[in-house]
Amino acid sequence: MTRGAALEFAGLGKRYGAIAALLPTNLMITPGEFFAVLGPSGSGKSTLLGTVAGFVAPSEGRVMIDGADITAMPPHRRNIGMVFQNYALFPYLTVARNIAFPLKMRRLPRAEIAARVARALEMVRLGGFADRMPAQLSGGQQQRVALARAAVYDPPLLLMDEPLGALDKNLREDMQEELRQFHHSVGATILYVTHDQQEAASMADRMAIMNHGAIEQVGPPHELYERPRNSFVARFLGEANMFGIVRTDPLPAGRSRFATEVGLELLACGSPTGTVVCIRPENVTIAETPPARDNCFSGRIVDIVHAAGSIRYRVAIAPNCIVTARVASERRTTVLPRDGVVHVGWDAEDALVLPA
Ligand SMILES: Nc1ncnc2c1ncn2[C@@H]1O[C@H](COP(=O)(O)OP(=O)(O)OP(=O)(O)O)[C@@H](O)[C@H]1O
Ligand SMILES: [Mg+2]
Repeated sequence: MTRGAALEFAGLGKRYGAIAALLPTNLMITPGEFFAVLGPSGSGKSTLLGTVAGFVAPSEGRVMIDGADITAMPPHRRNIGMVFQNYALFPYLTVARNIAFPLKMRRLPRAEIAARVARALEMVRLGGFADRMPAQLSGGQQQRVALARAAVYDPPLLLMDEPLGALDKNLREDMQEELRQFHHSVGATILYVTHDQQEAASMADRMAIMNHGAIEQVGPPHELYERPRNSFVARFLGEANMFGIVRTDPLPAGRSRFATEVGLELLACGSPTGTVVCIRPENVTIAETPPARDNCFSGRIVDIVHAAGSIRYRVAIAPNCIVTARVASERRTTVLPRDGVVHVGWDAEDALVLPA
């Protein structure tokens, strides 16, 4: 098993003329970590990855691997494995020759190449596919070959930029599982770029949320979901009911009463300097009688969405104000009727008060 590399960004930034693709960034990624970089299109994810690969020359700051400054090192000397969205296998080489390619470049002995290729094929569960051509493989199989090729020389660091982006949803979920297994078995540090929050959350030890060239927050997925630092992070990770705050009246015991843009008054805990109150749909109780909650409103169900394992109700509780409640569903769950009048409620502790 490879020892994963430590990766460090120190004041690293990239400008293209007037465009700041990456604002000066500090970040430490620990050996063996699966680290995801998540953010909307154009937020700077590929730019950050490119500075590690050596495709992007930073305008300022440094990149370090195991403490050594690699900022100016040519890409081919960095000993980094890479997997990208368009798997870019060599179309006229068999699967085995594709995987052998980086080993040939490194002039390894023939017998060792054969042994390593066989091992890499087993690792991505393509044992019987050595002599196939890329065109004879499915998208997921091609992506697994690309993964084997990137990992075959045991690099301590693997970079992946939307590697599953071209695959359909089911295949993507299978591959997420495989990548987790793969990471577990190789021990390399993985820096993984995606704009899919579910994908990042399902695989990463920690993740960074990027927005406009800056990292908004770094942490384990559950921490970012439960304690987002601002409304961008809250909105980007999963669903959230958001209420704009127009006035705050502090109360005892760390609570406040918030007057909101839609005219409702809400009780919540936390920072009196926040500008939005955010409640996750799974923390909203919906019932035919008023639930015993700090915040309680009646309204009409305007939409019902059945998803795997849950039901999402959209409830209009005031003009221009629809609250989403998500309820876990079982076989016997009674579904409340559309247009039915119901009550929704949540506790002050479940409301996050966040800056914009
Ligand atoms: N070579 C370039 N010249 C000028 N601007 C660039 C260049 N490469 C990237 N940019 C700009 O830098 C910003 C960040 O781009 P980047 O490719 O890092 O985004 P991203 O987060 O990877 O987006 P996506 O999810 O769409 O891949 C964007 O505004 C982009 O237009
Ligand atoms: Mg990109």
